[in-house]
Amino acid sequence: MSTTTTRFAGLDPGEFGLPGEQELAALAAGYPAAEYPRYSATDFRPEPTEFFGFKTGNEPYSLPAFFTPTVSPFNPAAPARPPAQAAGREALPRVGDTPLSAIRADFPILSETVEGHPLIWLDNSATTQRPRQVIDRISRYYEHENSNVHRGAHTLADRSTDAYEKARATVASFIGAPSPDNIIWVRGATEGLNLAAQAYVRPLLRAGDEIILTHLEHHANIVPWQIIAQETGAVLRVAPVDDSGQIIVSEYLKLFNRKTRFVSAAHVSNALGTIAPIEELISVAHARGVRICVDGAQSASHLPIDVAALDADFFVFSGHKIYGPTGIGALYGKADALEEAAPYQGGGNMIEDVSFERTLYRQAPAKFEAGTGNIADAVGLGAALDYVSSIGLAGIAAYEHELLSQGTRELAKIPGLRLVGTAAQKTSVLSFVLNGVSLEQAAKGLNSRGIAVRAGHHCAQPILRRFGLEGTVRPSVAFYNTPGEIEALARAVRELAGSR
Ligand SMILES: Cc1ncc(COP(=O)(O)O)c(C=O)c1O
Repeated sequence: MSTTTTRFAGLDPGEFGLPGEQELAALAAGYPAAEYPRYSATDFRPEPTEFFGFKTGNEPYSLPAFFTPTVSPFNPAAPARPPAQAAGREALPRVGDTPLSAIRADFPILSETVEGHPLIWLDNSATTQRPRQVIDRISRYYEHENSNVHRGAHTLADRSTDAYEKARATVASFIGAPSPDNIIWVRGATEGLNLAAQAYVRPLLRAGDEIILTHLEHHANIVPWQIIAQETGAVLRVAPVDDSGQIIVSEYLKLFNRKTRFVSAAHVSNALGTIAPIEELISVAHARGVRICVDGAQSASHLPIDVAALDADFFVFSGHKIYGPTGIGALYGKADALEEAAPYQGGGNMIEDVSFERTLYRQAPAKFEAGTGNIADAVGLGAALDYVSSIGLAGIAAYEHELLSQGTRELAKIPGLRLVGTAAQKTSVLSFVLNGVSLEQAAKGLNSRGIAVRAGHHCAQPILRRFGLEGTVRPSVAFYNTPGEIEALARAVRELAGSR
């Protein structure tokens, strides 16, 4: 097992028994030297098992996205035990090749205490925390580059434009888009979905036309479609899920007919963690000549995304759910779809020429970016994606899967606890309800132990009502969480269950 990942001029310090850069950062953050070498994500992988005819479990994450993270917590192959926990200080594994201790040292907020306990941040589906690299990049922007973006006017305008457009190129390559011109800056997934609905889909609709959604959707992927349906007389159709919370593809198929104009579907459910069979959803829609938008708000930080390989027509995600700033996100669109779409908002930056009689618009993406954008946060998002890429989504997915498996095993043992969302393909989310303990009591009880989770309807009322619920307690993991934190969560929930 390698003890370090940092190479200097082709040398691996670990080969000489020396700590690498990341180890030094972790040591500086107070993790004892004796806790290296530790673990790699592969140390925790279950034995390969058969799933839909695919071997899963020890595969590199190169299978199609639909099959990629199929190592479900509900898979009978039990993963190896997580590492033993020292009192107070935990021996930490690696995420891919990166020591988790080094990752945690990058996130200043993880050193906070809450109610006298170390903060355990398990509200990652609501928002993630930001690493120092993102915070510093935004500061650097304001200290050295701040200007409106209009290349050629002066030096700071050039710096600012370069940084903004470099970040756009980073987004494009992060999600496998063919060009930065496919990437439109938006406030987040919500604005991206509204943009796709208003700019591309609304002009297509006539009374009686149909838009297909799935039962898994967040309100952000329901309400924009409802608005344009009400305005045009179009109708929403909904693909159902089974009792595990997975989309029933055979029922989805049946929803298509001559009036189907568009599909919009979550890649990952924020309430249940279900990974939708997105490749199938896309290929079924395309076989019927219908375009599809993928809501990647909950997938981009957990699964490798390749919009070109997926053949998605549109894809949206939010910066704040992938370790970047709030108020920034991206909408990817295929070039021909963006060409067809009408402008979303009117104003400066998006025009070629304006008179009182008519306006000529610029090409995408400028056509959809009226007004001054959120430049600093776009640059911060670029830094966040570089950070995630430096760790690698394959390693992140494998590591987070182990946390999810551990959490599922531990919570499932607690009497009176019902896990909500038990699909074979899941990521990050551990939604549950506890007999005799209200959502509010659970959230407060966990907070009093330093553990932050979301409790409520998670802006996904239709899918919770499908399970007869108005809300759940929702811990959700990210790659900076530790096996010890999952143990602490399970211990706290056991105590709450016992105090009924
Ligand atoms: C699946 C999904 N879609 C869309 C959104 C909306 O994201 P934002 O509030 O960042 O625009 C969320 C937020 O939780 C989500 O989970």
